[in-house]
Amino acid sequence: MNDRLAILGGEPAVKIAYPEWPVHDEREVEAVAEVVRSGHWGGYPYPGPRTTAFLQKFLEFQGGEYAIMAANGTVTMEIALRAAGIGWGDEVIVPAYTFQATAAAPMAAGAIPVIVDIDPNTYCIDPQAIEAAITPRTRAIIPVHVGSLMADMDAIMAIAERHNLIVVEDCAHVHGMQWRGRGAGTIGHFGSFSLQSSKILTSGEGGILICKTKELADAATSVVNCGRPAAGHDAVTIMGANFRSSELHAALASAQLERLPAQTRQREAMVGYMDEALSEIPGVRVFRPDPRITRRSVYLYIFAIDPAVWGVDHHAVCAALEAEGLDASTGYPPMHRYDLFQPQLTRLPVPMAHPERFDFAAMNLPVATEAYEREAVWLPEAVFRAGKEGVDQAVAAIRKVYEQRAALAEAAALRSR
Ligand SMILES: Cc1ncc(COP(=O)(O)O)c(C=O)c1O
Repeated sequence: MNDRLAILGGEPAVKIAYPEWPVHDEREVEAVAEVVRSGHWGGYPYPGPRTTAFLQKFLEFQGGEYAIMAANGTVTMEIALRAAGIGWGDEVIVPAYTFQATAAAPMAAGAIPVIVDIDPNTYCIDPQAIEAAITPRTRAIIPVHVGSLMADMDAIMAIAERHNLIVVEDCAHVHGMQWRGRGAGTIGHFGSFSLQSSKILTSGEGGILICKTKELADAATSVVNCGRPAAGHDAVTIMGANFRSSELHAALASAQLERLPAQTRQREAMVGYMDEALSEIPGVRVFRPDPRITRRSVYLYIFAIDPAVWGVDHHAVCAALEAEGLDASTGYPPMHRYDLFQPQLTRLPVPMAHPERFDFAAMNLPVATEAYEREAVWLPEAVFRAGKEGVDQAVAAIRKVYEQRAALAEAAALRSR
């Protein structure tokens, strides 16, 4: 039978191979070879000429006036907080649904991550939850723009202004994204981007921090470069570390950046088509983009299934989609499920000093928990880079699993016996 699920021995629905990531040709090879021949490989003196040139080009694409480059998109957030003078005992509000880096960065700076729930319509931080978590010790908010959507930056900036808070946008997923015509990462005081190998702009490893003012950029430059002042002599004046990236990374990132505008357009052209097609499948919740998103980038495409309609949760659905040839995953655990932050396990200074702030059993984060435990399905950017056929095949696989959900539920029930 043609429509038998691949996980139960049928033919996979996806008949194409999705394109590999990252893509490269001789341009990347030559860019790196040129750095090797120059003898100027590293990040010192900081910033090197290729790093400066790359950052200029990135700002032209993303917006903003000042930026620094660093080793990855985790330390960029730590650097931002340190540059803003945020440290021991300060509170930084972060969403429950994100990679651990968003909470690890404040901890590395000595601050307490205060974990709040997400909006069920975007899986991004819920502004009302931010407001409810503010105390006299709150100093910053780190909204994360998740997948192919953005947190409500208008609401977040209004809260930040009212309470005099620093906003560090975690833009690890959203190079190219725009909110009311402004680049993600240029609305808050800082915008932090990851260039890690899966990201939609990559140099293998690396990070970019867009800074709102020259003062913040100078402070960030010192932190990234072992505390040396941004200009002039070599004396170490503030506490920093070697967070630098290399000229090799900048050269590779520059070559990749030339591809990014066309890749962004290609994915954006297909993502609305996916929204329409999926919204016709019962029990699928499509996250419609906020109309204030004026250019949409796609690192991950996330939708939610209703387990009551499908008869199974997202674990069974993703396993079935994987067998159909679609690289689907269930996504992040909510932050309070990361053992990483348990004081007794990590013995890190921040949880050891404030164990009451890491009492995860006491945290009530129903939206992030539901996303993690039952409903979220993530699809990779390659589905959109493969054009209409890529989306059509993905939708066919999802529809097939939906139509065969009774067989899937039966198999799942048998397995759990
Ligand atoms: C939301 C988010 N923030 C931060 C990071 C950290 O970036 P990096 O791996 O470059 O440290 C990642 C992923 O890697 C991420 O997905």
